[in-house]
Amino acid sequence: MKNVSGGSGGQPACEGGTPVFEERIPYFRPALSEREIEAVVETLRSGWLTIGPGTRQFREEFLEFTGLKHGHPVNSCTSGLFLALKVLGIGPGDEVITTPNTFVSSVNVIHHVGAVPVLADIEMTTYGLDPEAVAAAITPATKAILAVHYGGQLCRIEALRELADRKGLLLIEDAAHAFAAYAGGRHAGDFGDATSFSFYVTKNLSTGEGGFLACKDPRLEEEIALNSMHGMDTGAWKRYTDRGSWFYEVQRYGYKFNMTDIQAALGSVQLERMPEMQRSRIRAAERYQAALAGESALILPATRADAVHSWHLYAPRLREGALRIDRDEFLTALIAEGVAPSLHFIPIHHHPVYRADMGEIGAKLPNSEEFYRGCFSLPLFPDMTDGEIDGICAAVQKLLHWYRS
Ligand SMILES: Cc1ncc(COP(=O)(O)O)c(C=O)c1O
Repeated sequence: MKNVSGGSGGQPACEGGTPVFEERIPYFRPALSEREIEAVVETLRSGWLTIGPGTRQFREEFLEFTGLKHGHPVNSCTSGLFLALKVLGIGPGDEVITTPNTFVSSVNVIHHVGAVPVLADIEMTTYGLDPEAVAAAITPATKAILAVHYGGQLCRIEALRELADRKGLLLIEDAAHAFAAYAGGRHAGDFGDATSFSFYVTKNLSTGEGGFLACKDPRLEEEIALNSMHGMDTGAWKRYTDRGSWFYEVQRYGYKFNMTDIQAALGSVQLERMPEMQRSRIRAAERYQAALAGESALILPATRADAVHSWHLYAPRLREGALRIDRDEFLTALIAEGVAPSLHFIPIHHHPVYRADMGEIGAKLPNSEEFYRGCFSLPLFPDMTDGEIDGICAAVQKLLHWYRS
C-alpha cells in the first residue's frame, strides 16, 4: 500500500518510532459517484431548487426501502426529533427519559420544547438504553422515552416498546445511525410512535444535510407536513404549479424544516446505491472484527443475533486496566500512527451546559461512565480499501502490544 511506511510493529510513532501511515487515513470520506453529481445538476437545471417533485419522489422511495408507512423528509435529524416531540404534544411539565450515550442534539431538542431530559443508564451489549434503568427512572411526569440506536445496531427497542405500552408512554426513536438497520426483520422506525433519521454527510445515506421523520399514526403525517412548512396548509409544491393558487392559510405556529429537491436528488441516487454501499460497510466491519478478534485488550462490538447492523460506526472499547495508558493517550498515539479516529460519544452529562443543570450524576450512570472510559471509533466508510483497514488494524495492534499492562 502506497502510504504505509511499514512501521507496523515496535515503537509507537508518538515515542519516536515510524508511523504505520505516512499520509493520514481520514475518519470519513464521502462516497459520491458521478450519478449523484449528475442528479444534482439536473435538479438545478429543472428550476426546482427547494421543495418540489424530487422531495416527493424521495419520500416515496424512502418509505418503500424501509417498509415504514408514514412521514416526510426534513432538513436534519435534529429538526425531525424536535418536530416529533412537538407533534406528539410533549412540552413544559413533561419528562423525557433518554440516554447519555448520544449526540447532544437528541437531548437539546427535549430542552427546546420545554420538557425535562432525564438520563437513564445504558446496557453493555448494544450500548443503548437499559429498559430496567428506564423503568426505574419513570415518574408521574414521564411522557416519553427517546431511544438511540447506537452505531447502527438497534437497542433493546422491543423491550422499550413493551415498557412504553405498559406505562402509557410515547416512544421516539433516534435512528440517526440506523438507516438500513433491522431487528427481527423490522426496520428501525417500526417500533416508535415517531422516528427521526439523519442524512448528514457521514451517515450511511447522505444528502449533505437532511433527515426523515417517520410516524406510526397517519394523522401525525399531516401534522409533520404542516409544521415543517410554517404551519401553512398548502406546501410550495402545490402553490407553484398550474393547478395551485396564491391562497394559503396558516394552521399552526410552524417551522421551516423541509428538505429541498437538491438534497432529495442526492438522496434518491444514494438510495439506489444503498445495497452496494452497505455491502462495502459490512465488508469493512467484518474485516475489522476478524483482524482484531484475538486482542484481549479490546472489547469488539457485539451484534444482536436477530438483527441487521447498519455499521454506521465501528466502535470497539479498550478493556479497563488492559493498557498502561488511558483511552485519551491511546487515541493520541493512534493519530501519530496516521489514523484519524473519532469518539462516540462524550456522555451528555459531561457537557458543561448539562452539568450545570443536572449536577454530577455520573455515579448514577456507571455503565455510561465505563463505556466512555474505553470507547473510540475507527474510520468506516464505503470505499475503504482492504489495505487501509489492514493498516489501521496494524496501528491499533502495535499500540495494544506496546502499551500492554
Ligand atoms: C445519535 C444522533 N442523533 C442525532 C444526530 C443529529 O443528526 P443531524 O445532524 O442530521 O441533525 C446525530 C448526528 O450525528 C446523531 O449521531
